[in-house]
Amino acid sequence: MSLPIRIAPSILAADFANLGQEVRDVTEAGADWIHLDIMDGHFVPNISFGPDVVKSLRPYTTAIFDCHMMVAPADPYIEAFAKAGCDIITIHAEAGKHTHRSLQSIKSHGKRAGISINPGTPESMIEYLLDQLDLILIMTVNPGFGGQAFIPAMLDKISRVKAMIGDRPIELEVDGGISANTSAMAARAGANVFVAGSAVFKGGSVDAYRSAIQAIREPAQATQ
Ligand code: DX5
Ligand code: ZN
Repeated sequence: MSLPIRIAPSILAADFANLGQEVRDVTEAGADWIHLDIMDGHFVPNISFGPDVVKSLRPYTTAIFDCHMMVAPADPYIEAFAKAGCDIITIHAEAGKHTHRSLQSIKSHGKRAGISINPGTPESMIEYLLDQLDLILIMTVNPGFGGQAFIPAMLDKISRVKAMIGDRPIELEVDGGISANTSAMAARAGANVFVAGSAVFKGGSVDAYRSAIQAIREPAQATQ
């Protein structure tokens, strides 16, 4: 099963004083999804924004809101992010003791459910969840900050997860250090959704964002 190549700009790298316009601009520039990095200062050593900010951004685009919860525990906050207008909610396999139950909670709110694993986490940890998943997010850096370098050892992991997915219609997303230089190798390994923060939000204009998105998309598409 091959799903379309999608580019998901992370607003973590956008101008936080102007987020609504940034979301509108990056949508006009061709973003397929908007990636929302939720950081709790506990699961990761940084704090970003919460459900009220997501809710206030919702009117600025009709694009899919792809919520990446770097939050432990995630369960008490799933409902708030669902109500704020997220379409996909991804939790971390390392963030709680009862991941299967957390995914059921996401589904019970009518949302698509994703699981993410850190670079050091083996993919065997999520194998039993495959039939519940709409998305798998392979972290290609250690989560917490934008602007870090892609970890090349993750390429083999992406290939192994792609094989594990088989024919299931599961989106395979990569996040961290994705740019025009790394999207093709991640696509070759099997990824179809590309999160990019610092590689997209530079230049501050719709035209600059459009070129940056294209520069990531084209090498990935060329591998298909
Ligand atoms: C990292 C976040 C990423 C981050 C990516 O913890 O999950 O989504 O924004 O930033 P870049 O694309 O700059 O590596
Ligand atoms: Zn992310």
